[in-house]
Amino acid sequence: MRITVTEQPYPEIEAGALALMAFEGETAPAAGGAWLAGLLQTGEFSGKSFETALEYHPEGLKAKRRLVVGAGKRSAFTPAEMRKAAGVALRVLKPKGVGTVAWLLPEEFAKAEFAQAAVEGAILADFEPDRYKTKKEEAKTVDAFILAARGDFASAVERARIVAEAQNFTRELVHEPSNRLNPSLLAERARAMAAEFGLDCEVLDRDRMRQLGMGALLGVAQGSVEPPALIIVRYQPNGAPEDSPHLALIGKGVTFDSGGISIKPSEGMEKMKYDMAGGAAVLGAMRALAQLKPSIPVTALVPAVENMPGGRAQRPGDIVTSLSGKTIEILNTDAEGRLILADAITYAKRLGCTHLADAATLTGAIVVALGHFNVGVFSNDDGLLAKVMAAARAAGEKMWPMPLDEEYRELLKTPFADIQNIGNRWGGAITAAAFLKEFVEDTPWVHLDIAGTAWLEEAKPFLPKGPSGVTVRTFVNLAMDW
Ligand code: BES
Ligand code: ZN
Ligand code: ZN
Repeated sequence: MRITVTEQPYPEIEAGALALMAFEGETAPAAGGAWLAGLLQTGEFSGKSFETALEYHPEGLKAKRRLVVGAGKRSAFTPAEMRKAAGVALRVLKPKGVGTVAWLLPEEFAKAEFAQAAVEGAILADFEPDRYKTKKEEAKTVDAFILAARGDFASAVERARIVAEAQNFTRELVHEPSNRLNPSLLAERARAMAAEFGLDCEVLDRDRMRQLGMGALLGVAQGSVEPPALIIVRYQPNGAPEDSPHLALIGKGVTFDSGGISIKPSEGMEKMKYDMAGGAAVLGAMRALAQLKPSIPVTALVPAVENMPGGRAQRPGDIVTSLSGKTIEILNTDAEGRLILADAITYAKRLGCTHLADAATLTGAIVVALGHFNVGVFSNDDGLLAKVMAAARAAGEKMWPMPLDEEYRELLKTPFADIQNIGNRWGGAITAAAFLKEFVEDTPWVHLDIAGTAWLEEAKPFLPKGPSGVTVRTFVNLAMDW
């Protein structure tokens, strides 16, 4: 989909459709003409969020159709709402084969953050998880999206394109089934992306991990015939001072989580192909950052493994020695994400990273706690937490801070090793975070549990069902606004 900007007056814009917003409880904007005024009068259209109405051959417009999208109450309207509204327009118009969509940015919202949100919304809505359909249900495409606005929005639109395409790259990876995306193939995709965008990429193989002593990661990998990979992608800005902060983005990359010997029930197990969504998110963020060029160095680390119950698989009761030297008693092989992250966290610190942010589909418990609408946020540093929350708010990605008190660490005590890999029945998302914290130690760190938000179980009016690409935009903002 091509993205362009025009300052042409809306009646002059040639497009398959001109799309505009209308707010709840207000009179029709001029661009809606008598048609929209009529719809509002009869009550056929009220302006509630996601409501739409479509007119063919609108009088006085060069566009072939006119679409109105409800924008909800003006007082509650934010860039996040703009992102959704533009997405709704795209998803309504795309199956009709309109070719070109013009999105009217009203005068009062002619600001960079609204322009950026509208373009992101359109590109994200354009994504289809149909790679493996030989007959595409939606063969129709939107070829061009025109942002109709007064002002200079070239750089806002360019940033939107970079960020949304990076998020779609993440979604493509998450969508891949595990037979087509194992740890080695994920590493290849990371390498190709890094080469395309001028980033440095290094992949540690099993032998190297053995030399280093990454016993926690290797223990998870040993039940699968697929070898593990620790993917490292580096962005280094020109002329950064020696003592510059250095951000690590660490993403859980379990390409399939069967649970291992503590095997999962078969119902829903197919979803565990998305257990690498955190890894895909940090790679997507790097793809965007390579183009946007933040002023601090950023290193992505993706520990990639397949968690399988093969003949060599680790067993409950096994004790492994992590890269940090700390020993871990494995009480449940399905709590594997924290094990691979532990070694990646230690390695990130050894690489000189001063601030750590991880994203992981870590626990079912976070879904119990927060449902599917908020990412769970854990941190050991109020300053970094505030930065991440601000980045998330600006990105329109909902996140909710969770507690991480000392009491939870108590639940990981075992007489047989330094730590065990699970707590008790309660507060499972928090004990998982407490486990990670043990390896983070004093380095400022934030952990994002995305188990409930990385996969949309149902389509939304502005997004298809499937991978969401969550945390890509937050990570991009975090690095860019440092
Ligand atoms: N990958 C899962 C967590 C998960 C659950 C992700 C649902 C997405 C949707 C993780 O590795 C896991 O299995 N966690 C266990 C931990 C338990 C054994 C302590 C869980 O949440 O049940
Ligand atoms: Zn698991
Ligand atoms: Zn998992």
